[in-house]
Amino acid sequence: MQKAQLQLSQVGISFPTAKGDFVALQNVNLDIAQGEFVSLIGHSGCGKSTVLNIVAGLLQASTGGVILNNKEVNEPGPERAVVFQNHSLLPWLTVYQNVELAVKQVFRGKKSKSEMRDWILHNLALVQMTHALDKRPSEISGGMKQRVGIARALAMQPQVLLMDEPFGALDALTRAHLQDSVMDIQAKLNNTVIMITHDVDEAVLLSDRIVMMTNGPAATIGEILHIDLPRPRERLALSDDARYNHYRHQVLSFLYEKQRKIEPLHTQTKAAKPAIVTVEAKSA
Ligand SMILES: Nc1ncnc2c1ncn2[C@@H]1O[C@H](COP(=O)(O)OP(=O)(O)OP(=O)(O)O)[C@@H](O)[C@H]1O
Ligand SMILES: [Mg+2]
Repeated sequence: MQKAQLQLSQVGISFPTAKGDFVALQNVNLDIAQGEFVSLIGHSGCGKSTVLNIVAGLLQASTGGVILNNKEVNEPGPERAVVFQNHSLLPWLTVYQNVELAVKQVFRGKKSKSEMRDWILHNLALVQMTHALDKRPSEISGGMKQRVGIARALAMQPQVLLMDEPFGALDALTRAHLQDSVMDIQAKLNNTVIMITHDVDEAVLLSDRIVMMTNGPAATIGEILHIDLPRPRERLALSDDARYNHYRHQVLSFLYEKQRKIEPLHTQTKAAKPAIVTVEAKSA
């Protein structure tokens, strides 16, 4: 493998809680090469967002650390754009202005006013949000907010794109469209991507490697699966491809055999409907 652009070494973190320190992550070691597409997958609460936030510089590791381009990461920077799990647009700015703010931060002095405008519009068109340029976040749906968050991150042309379940809130068609866009953009720009997902098909389709995390507390990397499928990748062709299905099976077996996680029924609140409890228990 070529030299790592991004290195996570012995990363651990504990959070102070009322019951004492809670060790969320321990001994997370991962080297990522420039241009690699890495997915993080694991059960809810295992620590995926925490890993991403440490790489983003939004959380400080309690042990170990992160090195990007030979420099330690201690704070956020425009070379690392984040698409958050809960879309985080500034509520007082319009869709256009939310993207503009990020674009100005990166391209001030490098692009003219009209070039910036074209670039903002181009990225909003990519996520099919041109119709809502002047709307504020409170006036658009959750999936639309997520799309604007993706446009904002892509518009920064970051060296490292950090995405926390970026397509989770989208309908299947939009999701497929955006997955293809992200693959195209990444092929063009060769930026490094770390993406958290719960969707096994999405992980196999997009990734060079899938990093599978163990359940917490003290979660760490359980297994790493290399996805050796040629690019560009085409979802329809792959759905009938034996290697694709083999990778898919390996991820499913990690999640549902090796790291099986069933919430005991008695922890469910009384408010939970029995039908939902049954479905969750079966699919867990
Ligand atoms: N600030 C905090 N204080 C205390 N505990 C925290 C804090 N942030 C996260 N945790 C705990 O750390 C663990 C990992 O949380 P994290 O949000 O990283 O999980 P996740 O894998 O992203 O889950 P999901 O798939 O549901 O988004 C959880 O048990 C969570 O409760
Ligand atoms: Mg999360």
